[in-house]
Amino acid sequence: KPFSVLVTGGAGYIGSHAVLALLDAGWKVVVLDNLATGFRWAVPETVEFVLGDVADMEMVQATIAKHNIGAILHFAGSLLVGESVGNPLKYYRNNTAASRTLIEAAIGAGVHHFVFSSTAATYGMPEVVPVAEDAPKAPINPYGLSKLMTEQILADVAAAHPLNYAALRYFNVAGADPQGRSGQSVAGATHLIHIACEAATGKRGHVGIYGDDYPTPDGTGVRDYIHVSDLADAHVAALEWLIANPSESLTANVGYGRGYSVLEVLDVVDHVTNMAIERRQEPRRAGDPPTLVADNRRILETLSWRPRHGDLASIVASALAWERTLQERGLSS
Ligand code: UFG
Repeated sequence: KPFSVLVTGGAGYIGSHAVLALLDAGWKVVVLDNLATGFRWAVPETVEFVLGDVADMEMVQATIAKHNIGAILHFAGSLLVGESVGNPLKYYRNNTAASRTLIEAAIGAGVHHFVFSSTAATYGMPEVVPVAEDAPKAPINPYGLSKLMTEQILADVAAAHPLNYAALRYFNVAGADPQGRSGQSVAGATHLIHIACEAATGKRGHVGIYGDDYPTPDGTGVRDYIHVSDLADAHVAALEWLIANPSESLTANVGYGRGYSVLEVLDVVDHVTNMAIERRQEPRRAGDPPTLVADNRRILETLSWRPRHGDLASIVASALAWERTLQERGLSS
């Protein structure tokens, strides 16, 4: 490979899976993480680890020079929608301002390729589902807007400087490395599959169903759940595409283009665990769209990427195996 890849947030949930995917594809990787929410143990021993902040321009530029970094995969950031409403400045700092500084460092140090963790939250409440990339961007929380602003920074910078980028808009990320090397361990995570796995392993007593009167087939929210290892592979494919197409950039949804309702997810969890996890009907959660499913034609047409772990039962089984590993190791948050 011509250069090394810097992975910010590589000690976090999605970042650590991207590190594994890069290593599996033969890349040399350097992880930069401030361990605010990530874990040192999530980064393989063989990978160079730099403890620090993406907004520390001097340190980032020194790291780029020292390790011959030619591309950055930028995962570091904050991701809790509810928290972003109560503490918007944290999101504009960690997701927008810090990214701006990192991009400036990248330009100054001669990095040519940048892959950015964006989100379906940039669409807000989409009127047309499956939602395509050119649909209106109308985030309904600071989290979504903090990510959308960074997409805009990247678009402007790529037009002015020799840098191309891929902004990947993730749908509902779930599951864990099928080989059991990493998984989700975000403190305070409110994601449905994570919550259901905690209930299945006795960490919580029940799962709340947030609303049963949505305009969906069974009345509960429908989402496009994507396996974290497929998402990680999409980053490697995007990186390779950026190298092969230096004058082009890409904004693409990463999803499977199919949705499951809350009840369908819980049925699968019950089936995989052979349990009947207690469900409690609860009111709608503020800001939840009824249905969020990706139109994924662009990524399928542009990249060589194809989903490999799309089966919901496999997603759930891998998440569950990881939750058990965490509890066995006493690492559960
Ligand atoms: N849900 C429940 N009970 C729970 C948790 C969730 O019924 O305990 C429901 C939600 O109402 C929703 C669905 O399960 O219908 C999925 O909710 P998640 O919290 O798992 O995920 P979201 O769709 O709310 O959010 C995800 C990411 C965000 C991202 C958003 C849009 O977590 O970071 O998708 O892309 F912004």
